[in-house]
Amino acid sequence: MERYHGILQDKRYKKMLQRLEEYEANREFCCHTLEHFCDVARLMYIMSLEDGNCIPKDLIYTTALLHDLGRLKEYEENIPHHIAGQQIAREFLMEYGYNNQEIKDVLMAIGEHRSVQNKTHKLSYYLYSADKLSRNCFHCSAWDRCKWSIEKKNSTLIK
Ligand SMILES: [Fe+2]
Ligand SMILES: [Fe+2]
Repeated sequence: MERYHGILQDKRYKKMLQRLEEYEANREFCCHTLEHFCDVARLMYIMSLEDGNCIPKDLIYTTALLHDLGRLKEYEENIPHHIAGQQIAREFLMEYGYNNQEIKDVLMAIGEHRSVQNKTHKLSYYLYSADKLSRNCFHCSAWDRCKWSIEKKNSTLIK
């Protein structure tokens, strides 16, 4: 079985999802739910397939499932979630037997998912792009109040 299934069933992971849901119960803007993580995973996988299946599915799904857990620390301690998320992700990755290169790649992608620096690092680029494409900004009532730049807002359905 792919390793991301272990994370998905992990009690600590489930608890984090639940706490995120509680924090965002009244949030007007996009939330950071399991649905979002799955949307991102599938979009990343489509991108990888379109590029010749260049990244293992397990690594893609793992990255997507972990990428926004840092939101908890952002709500609780005001630490930007792309940074806090790296620490949380590292613990899961080590626990579930990812190797050093995989850990490095996933942490880089999470660290860059708000403004990707290196478009040649495909996992980072896919995460950054899928994260934005997963949001239906073109049908959002909070468009005017959302602080995302116009470049980040998804203006139409692409994938
Ligand atoms: Fe994020
Ligand atoms: Fe996200």
